[in-house]
Amino acid sequence: MIPEEVIFPKEVNIKYTSKEFMEHIERFSVPINKVAMWTLGQNSWILKNEEGTIIAIDPYLTDYCGSKRTGVPTVKSRILPIFIEPEDLKVDIVLITHSHPDHADPYTLERLTIKDSAYFAAPFQAVPILKKAGIKDVKLVHPLEQWEWKGIKITGTFAEPTDFTDLNHMGFVLHFACGKKYYNSGDTAKTELLEHVNSFDIDWMSICINGGYHNLTHWEAAEITALINPKIAIPAHFDMMPHNIQPPTMFRKSLSMKAPNVQYYRLEYYEPSLF
Ligand SMILES: [Fe+2]
Repeated sequence: MIPEEVIFPKEVNIKYTSKEFMEHIERFSVPINKVAMWTLGQNSWILKNEEGTIIAIDPYLTDYCGSKRTGVPTVKSRILPIFIEPEDLKVDIVLITHSHPDHADPYTLERLTIKDSAYFAAPFQAVPILKKAGIKDVKLVHPLEQWEWKGIKITGTFAEPTDFTDLNHMGFVLHFACGKKYYNSGDTAKTELLEHVNSFDIDWMSICINGGYHNLTHWEAAEITALINPKIAIPAHFDMMPHNIQPPTMFRKSLSMKAPNVQYYRLEYYEPSLF
């Protein structure tokens, strides 16, 4: 009998409607000294701190990369449901790691209803995509730039470009008021420069593992995780498009060999995880 957790990909059971899921996140009470996190697939995440501030990273909430506006599925069409429709996304902060459409999705961004209320930050090549989508105020950010918003210290981190269409990839470190520190790798090719994140003393991180389009493979992701040395590592960017998926158990195995002191953790769809 194959253990349930290694079956991949597996159809996601719809638990909530889009509005219900967003309401669940808005109502969710984060315990003291904790940060809650939800996955929306690919590198799309929602985080919420105990003060109630909600952050979205790289919300990919359409099928832009697959069917564009045709609705006709292709090999790049998402295999995950759209957990939250763009109109329903109610967050305070939106961070974008780079301009590729599975991260800065023009169709998601143009449908947001929080364009004037949320705080948006993105690197150089992603900014025009947000502006074109009608988001007037976008903070331009850079690797190693540090700033603070709503009590969260945010640092841009370096990421190695995966092709020449975007030479301004980034990741982010979020340092919450409770002291916890989270690192999001964004999309990155392999480079030992990622070791610079080690100096932030990361509690938990998510890292791309799919290997496609020059992203880190699960093996390279484990090697980079060993350099960064967080307490917990979460696989990212492995579950969205059929031509570009990777069983996360491969990363779990690689991590056990390359970074045995780092705990592997995979988020369940719809479920809050506390860090
Ligand atoms: Fe990507």
